[in-house]
Order: sequence, then C-alpha cells, then structure tokens
Amino acid sequence: MDVLYISMTKNILVTGKIPEVAITLLTAEGYRVDYPDTDRILNQEKLIEILTENSYDAVISFLTDTIDASVFASAPSVKIYSNYASGFDNVDIVEAEKRNIVVCNSPAPLSAEAVAEHTIALMLGLASRIVEADLYVRAGKYTQWTPMNFIGTDILGKTLGLIGTGRIGQRVAYYASRLGMKVVYNDIHRNESLEKECHAIYCESIADLLKQADVVSLHVPLLPSTRHLISTNQFALMKQSGFLINTSRGPVVDEKALVDALQKKIIGGVALDVFEFEPNISPQLIAMQNVILTPHIASASMEARNQMAEIAAQNIIDFFEGRVLNNKVH
Ligand code: GLV
Ligand code: GLV
Repeated sequence: MDVLYISMTKNILVTGKIPEVAITLLTAEGYRVDYPDTDRILNQEKLIEILTENSYDAVISFLTDTIDASVFASAPSVKIYSNYASGFDNVDIVEAEKRNIVVCNSPAPLSAEAVAEHTIALMLGLASRIVEADLYVRAGKYTQWTPMNFIGTDILGKTLGLIGTGRIGQRVAYYASRLGMKVVYNDIHRNESLEKECHAIYCESIADLLKQADVVSLHVPLLPSTRHLISTNQFALMKQSGFLINTSRGPVVDEKALVDALQKKIIGGVALDVFEFEPNISPQLIAMQNVILTPHIASASMEARNQMAEIAAQNIIDFFEGRVLNNKVH
C-alpha cells in the first residue's frame, strides 16, 4: 500500500520562493513540493541540474526561468509547466507543443489590478516629479522654497494612449478616465465596453495614437510582432512633452532608441518597470532625471502575489485531476 502511495505521489518543483498558499494547496493534495528556500533566482544551468537529478512531474516556473528545449530535455518526467506570471514569453511554446508538454500561465485578476495601479502611480510620479523631488530633499538640497522649483504637469484633461487593452490596459483606462483623462487606444480587437465605460476612442494605427497622446502606456504581451514596437520612428511621432510608461515587457521598447530620444529631448520622460536586458539597465537612463525606474514589481502587491500563487498551484492540481485547464497557453 505504501509503495503504491509513493509511486502515485506527484513531485512538484517550484523554482524559488512564492507565497505559502501554493505550497499549502499542493501538499493538501498529497503532492511533494521542493523549492529552493532563498530569494535567489536559479540560473538555467542550476535549473537543469536540479531537474536532471530529480524526477519531477510538474514545475512552477518564474518569468526569469528560460524554459526551452534544453530544459524540456533535462526533465522528461515533467508534464506541465505552470508559469508564475501573466506573461509567458520565457517559455518556448512551440517546443512544448512538439513534446506534448502543457504550459499554463497565472493571469490573476488581482495582478492585472496591481499592474494597473502601478502604471497610474508611475504616470502621476512622472507628472508630479515625485522621485526627482524626493532625491533632492534627501540630498539636503531643500534650503528654501521657490515658486519655480520642480514644476510638473497636471494630468486632468490630458490624453492617455493605451497600446494593448487586455485585462491590464482596461484597468488603466478605468482609472485614467476617472482621473479626468481622455483615453485613446490601439489593440488588435476593438473593445466596445471599454469605449462605453471609459469613453475610450479607438485609434486605427499606433502612429495616430502616438501623435495624440500626452502619456503613452504599453500593455501588450512580448511577441515577435511587438518586439521593438516602440523605436526611433515611434518616438519621433510622440509629443515633445510626451511620457512613455512601460509595465509590459522590456523588449517592447528599443532601449537604445529610448536613450537617444531622451537625450535629444524628443520626448518628455519615461517610467519603466521592465527593461530590454533586465536586470541590466542602460546607464544613461540611470543618470537622467526625467526617468523613473522600478525593478519589475508592478504586480508585486501581496494580494496579487497570493492570487498568482494560488492559480499557479491550481493549474497543476487541475491538470492531474483531469479538469479543464483555464490557463493553458497553447
Ligand atoms: C509579470 O510580469 C507577469 O507577467 O505576471
Ligand atoms: C504583464 O506583466 C502582464 O501581466 O501581462
């Protein structure tokens, strides 16, 4: 009986530490869960070593894990990768499909909410120059009040251009419209409820959107068609005072072209939560004042991360229970 039980137990690898709820759900099913008990991210070599030395049935992977043919080959027993993220550009889906391996993402409604709130915070941070002013105060430079110090801009009546109006873009539109902004959007799908709810106006082309927007915010997945979606030609279309916000994926913006646009004052400022070569960031961005940088934390609210952990675990349970997989990505 014991032997039968052991042979049926599922072994799950979580590639790092995530909220406890995931472990609780998986162990409640009788699964055995391993996870490196540190905040460090595994490099691919180490991940492959761990997968080779063990015989896992499922993996909860991170957006920092490159899940490609070499990983699949090292772990023939793994039947499902449940990615602890909404995005899944870190997983080679074509290769997974070829090998009949299931891939799920964890599109938690609360993570869309957290990313949208972070986007609004970045926009207001740029408009009110919060970060530069904070650094100024901390540097001991606030010796007297002057009328012209840190003049920012209002967002009331300004136009927000949203590229991508999936779950995150829609929430950003919701908040922006309530803050008195005009919302214009471009997406592969026209969204009538968004138009009704937020008085959003559809732009046929991204070029048209870039010309109108005071703030441009990106909410597309990273795909071959969205890599460097915003580059030199697009910056040239933006207003000179225009802000760009990116909380989607770094390579959607051509970072070299962005540095150039900022240096030549072709655009007004930028707020980035993601970077083309993260965690590396162009040093020129770090040196500039009209730039806000956060370390890919847009979805890092406790509420969102708990819900993501729950979904990542539930994907695996549903798979082994033979239920319908709501978050299967291919
Ligand atoms: C975070 O970047 C995510 O994709 O959830
Ligand atoms: C982006 O980070 C997303 O959650 O889709």
